[in-house]
Amino acid sequence: MARPSILVTGGLGFIGSHTAVCLHEAGYEPILLDNLSNSNRSALDGISSLMGYTPTFIEGDVCDPDLLRRLFEEHNIEATIHFAAFKAVGESIAEPLKYYQNNMGGLMSLLEVMKETGKNKVVFSSSCTVYGEPDQVPVTESSPTKEAESPYGATKQMGERVLRDMQWAEVQCLRYFNPIGAHPSAAIGELPLGVPNNLIPYLTQTVAGIRQELTVFGGDYDTPDGTCIRDYIHVMDLAEAHVVSLKRLLENQAQERFEVFNIGTGDGYSVLDVINTFEKVNGLPVPHRIGERRDGDVIQVWADTSRVNSVLGWKTQRGLEDMLRDAWRWQQRIASQ
Ligand code: NAD
Ligand code: UD1
Repeated sequence: MARPSILVTGGLGFIGSHTAVCLHEAGYEPILLDNLSNSNRSALDGISSLMGYTPTFIEGDVCDPDLLRRLFEEHNIEATIHFAAFKAVGESIAEPLKYYQNNMGGLMSLLEVMKETGKNKVVFSSSCTVYGEPDQVPVTESSPTKEAESPYGATKQMGERVLRDMQWAEVQCLRYFNPIGAHPSAAIGELPLGVPNNLIPYLTQTVAGIRQELTVFGGDYDTPDGTCIRDYIHVMDLAEAHVVSLKRLLENQAQERFEVFNIGTGDGYSVLDVINTFEKVNGLPVPHRIGERRDGDVIQVWADTSRVNSVLGWKTQRGLEDMLRDAWRWQQRIASQ
């Protein structure tokens, strides 16, 4: 029997590339669409080496409905996992139009074509950013969402709202916490362009000697060690969550047309916990100093995962040590190229 074709928008990106490999392993045929605005063709080589063949890759824009029409028809797309979006919070404040055009425009053209073709199943990349600074941790899916601090955050909230309003669509809305790490083979990983904004690429580049020192953004927060707390999740666990969620859609097991799940580990770690764990598992010092707070950072957020554990029957398999070992292995691999 032919493998069901799944359109993966943003398929050469960090999470998309890992998900493509997991889809293949689970018996699906990923059809990868990416305009390479935040990724590199080399990711396709890594994906191909893990899959044993080169999957279909289309270099193109998800904002182009004609292209999507052609893809849905030519590849008999059964469902879509929609990763393609811009994600840099600071840049979104500087260039809001770029974010609204790409993140909302991409979703709109995808929905237009899903509606026309009747291929109405979609897994959507949302974010824990929708909770803002929570009043209580851990956050559940029914914790209140707060007005977004950035245009990026607003595109995730609006994306959820738009999808909720599409009465004809079947939606799995996954709110990711902080994905880090890489495939354990180091064949694929995160390829930030320019100076990284996120903690782990900055940390690994510092240890590799590309950056001088890591600045810990704020050491005087109201947390046990004074630094911010996040729910870091291994990108392979996150990728596997997509497969489970997709299967639920394809097998018509969803109880509601629009379902939301927190995708995290349920554990919170501080920035200093991350640094200490990295040093312990990799046996290398992380040059760092405590600096000023970063505007817009939430103090602490981690997931209540009881809903996803019981309803999707999914939970994470990998811990912080695995994440940081794999992140370092990946950094070494890209440094050696
Ligand atoms: P990424 O930048 O590595 O991947 C996104 C991919 O989409 C890139 O390869 C980029 O080239 C592509 N893309 C962007 N706009 C496109 C367009 N118009 N047409 C075609 N391709 C386009 O990011 P990621 O970390 O893999 O994130 C994937 C999704 O998950 C995004 O929607 C992001 O907002 C969301 N998310 C990410 C995180 C995180 O920490 N990484 C957290 C929460 C949510
Ligand atoms: C950020 C975004 C979030 C987005 C996610 C994925 C903000 C405020 N939030 O999450 O909306 O979904 O990226 O793109 O930008 N840190 C340092 N030093 C550094 C970098 C980070 O101490 O050089 C700290 C931060 O203060 C934070 C933690 O490390 O406490 C994680 O930061 P980061 O990796 O940027 O992720 P978030 O800010 O959680």
